[in-house]
Amino acid sequence: MIEVARVGKTYKRGDGTPVAALKDISFRIEKGEFLTIRGPSGSGKSSMLNIMGCLDKPTCGTYRLHGEELSGYTDKQLSHVRAWKIGFVFQSFNLMPRTTALENVEIPMIYGPGHVDRKRAIAALERVGLGARAHHYGTELSGGEQQRVAIARALINDPPLILADEPTGNLDSAGGAEVMGILRQLHREGRTVVLVTHDDAVAAYAEREILFKDGALASDRKMAQFPVEAQ
Ligand SMILES: Nc1ncnc2c1ncn2[C@@H]1O[C@H](COP(=O)(O)OP(=O)(O)O)[C@@H](O)[C@H]1O
Ligand SMILES: [Mg+2]
Repeated sequence: MIEVARVGKTYKRGDGTPVAALKDISFRIEKGEFLTIRGPSGSGKSSMLNIMGCLDKPTCGTYRLHGEELSGYTDKQLSHVRAWKIGFVFQSFNLMPRTTALENVEIPMIYGPGHVDRKRAIAALERVGLGARAHHYGTELSGGEQQRVAIARALINDPPLILADEPTGNLDSAGGAEVMGILRQLHREGRTVVLVTHDDAVAAYAEREILFKDGALASDRKMAQFPVEAQ
């Protein structure tokens, strides 16, 4: 489903000096996997997830999603892929201000199908247990509720791939457990879930872990609770 091959990402600092955030990264992810990307702060986790989520492009190397080679795509082509194939969940929720939960969930329908199906948006909120909060503004919701709205928004166009960058990083343990319960359910339904985390309790949900160190891939292993199946 995903093939990252020899990907590098170099940013330029304000003073023009280059920062090599990703160096020669290669891995594959099969459809339906649930994996975490872990590693110290600054090791390149978000840079990698942003490339996988079509929010950024690699400096070198290739990124294939469903066999499509995306590294040469224009911004417009990437936003099309993002609208249909990828649900992205951020640490800080990124809900639109002065916008209700329901309106937030409807936004990706404008970029995907091109029209809003309100019944579908309500069903998505019900799915994350927030049917009764549809007309509330983000500021009226707890952190855990805001993240569940963000997950409903990520799911609204039914993408096969869910990417989450420290989705529980701003939540208390109860809110975090709710969010992880939903992500686990999405995985059980057959979606591919990739999440960046620092948290051992969160990492325990996953069946595979990729470790980043200084922009390089340091290890890639199956987790003990999921026996490795015959290939
Ligand atoms: N937009 C940017 N401009 C310049 N440097 C960046 C930018 N984004 C990230 N970096 C640098 O790239 C490196 C990796 O960052 P990041 O991918 O955010 O790591 P992580 O998510 O593991 O904390 C860090 O040194 C960071 O300072
Ligand atoms: Mg990060």
